[in-house]
Amino acid sequence: MDPTRQHDPRAWRATALLLFVVGLCACRGDKSPPAGESRPPAAATTAAAVVEAPGDTAIKAQPPTVPNAAEAKKHAGSKLKYYSEPLGVGAELDKVMVKQFQQDTGIEVTIIPRPKDATETYAVYQRLFQAQSGDVDVMMLDVIWPGAFAQNLVDLNEKLGEAAKQHIESIVRNNTVGGKLVAMPWFTDFGLLYYRTDLLGKYGYEKPPETWDELEQMAKKIQDGERASNPNFLGFVWQGKAYEGLTCNALEWIASHGGGAIIEDGKITVNNPGAQKALARAKGWVGSISSAGVTSYEEEDARNTFQGGNAAFMRNWPYAYAAGNADKSPIKGKFGAGPLPHEPGQKSSGTVGGWQLAVSKFSPNKDAAIEFVRYMTSPEAQKFRATAGSFIPTIPSVQQDPDVVKSLPFLANAKDIALVPRPSNSTGARYNEASIAFFQGVSQVLQGKEPKAVLGQVEQRLTRALR
Ligand code: GLC
Repeated sequence: MDPTRQHDPRAWRATALLLFVVGLCACRGDKSPPAGESRPPAAATTAAAVVEAPGDTAIKAQPPTVPNAAEAKKHAGSKLKYYSEPLGVGAELDKVMVKQFQQDTGIEVTIIPRPKDATETYAVYQRLFQAQSGDVDVMMLDVIWPGAFAQNLVDLNEKLGEAAKQHIESIVRNNTVGGKLVAMPWFTDFGLLYYRTDLLGKYGYEKPPETWDELEQMAKKIQDGERASNPNFLGFVWQGKAYEGLTCNALEWIASHGGGAIIEDGKITVNNPGAQKALARAKGWVGSISSAGVTSYEEEDARNTFQGGNAAFMRNWPYAYAAGNADKSPIKGKFGAGPLPHEPGQKSSGTVGGWQLAVSKFSPNKDAAIEFVRYMTSPEAQKFRATAGSFIPTIPSVQQDPDVVKSLPFLANAKDIALVPRPSNSTGARYNEASIAFFQGVSQVLQGKEPKAVLGQVEQRLTRALR
């Protein structure tokens, strides 16, 4: 159950507790190459407005000024390349914060949107590091990658060790490899069920579904009713493309069916009756309460559909909350977010996600890069990102800030979620390979294969990969 290398599962339970005690990461058209293709990384750009889903607007709120400006100004004139949020609200926030940083420090930052898909981003980073490229200074790092990329990243301990003490300890430990702090925590994530409160009322439901059976029945009834006026309406949207996002979704289905967490305490447990049942269920959604096209959906595809008013339920990360409530969003004030469904007797599960900021060992501008990371991960920046974009802060005191608590109301009813880490702890640098074996298997099931046979093959692939 431990998400992180070398660490104690209790740490994640503590994170969960912390999150909940306080009151409690896109779309088609991306130019990035698929994983494994050897095209050069995405071209540098100064990011034009990247507004995607219906009602998305540019961020109007003012970002905080740079608290470390005096130190950062010593590096004025340096030019940084930053592999940033690719799309949507996150990209908008990056844009305004980069502008503020440039203004306050004289350090120039070129935004390079990373591929929207985490698996593709991993492949791009691998190529950059293999080439010992100086073409990236600062990069977004998924919570599952510190172990895989540690040797290519700067130890931030000396300059940011003190600042890191403010962050959730288990995430700092996740980002510490062989004593080196290879990345600063930026935001944390877990899977949520989004539901249309207006449609629940219209079809006679008092509350969102608690079990998967309830979700299926409600999604079907609402879909049937809404299709009379909107033929494109869908019951349930989620991330079904064969990539890291599918690993996250499938882990939630399996854990909430009592099927465990793929690999637990170093043991491959992926092939079991709970997991088979969970995948058989998800297979049944394709072409019924979800479109056949859901098998090519990423986060932003699901958000586009839901935010456009074309779905009753959605599985997504917290960022979709602020976006859905933007002024011009068609679903503003008409939806809620809370725990995902579970089987009777099991718990709601939420896969642990989140991103860090790291500095490449091959950066020619390490000191300026570190000052940029210091700003972007500062309490002021985390509060700004939480209130403007519903990104969950990794600093407990910021989570408790009343404005933040107000901006993330879904945390209050999320206390019953069992946070499920992906097995990057036990697999280390092999995590990506293991995840690919898993999501490719899940994808085959969604395309029609029988779960039991496929999970047997996944088990064999994992055994070979982790030998
Ligand atoms: C989100 C999560 C990240 C995960 C990704 C999968 O960005 O924060 O941890 O790997 O989604 O699509």
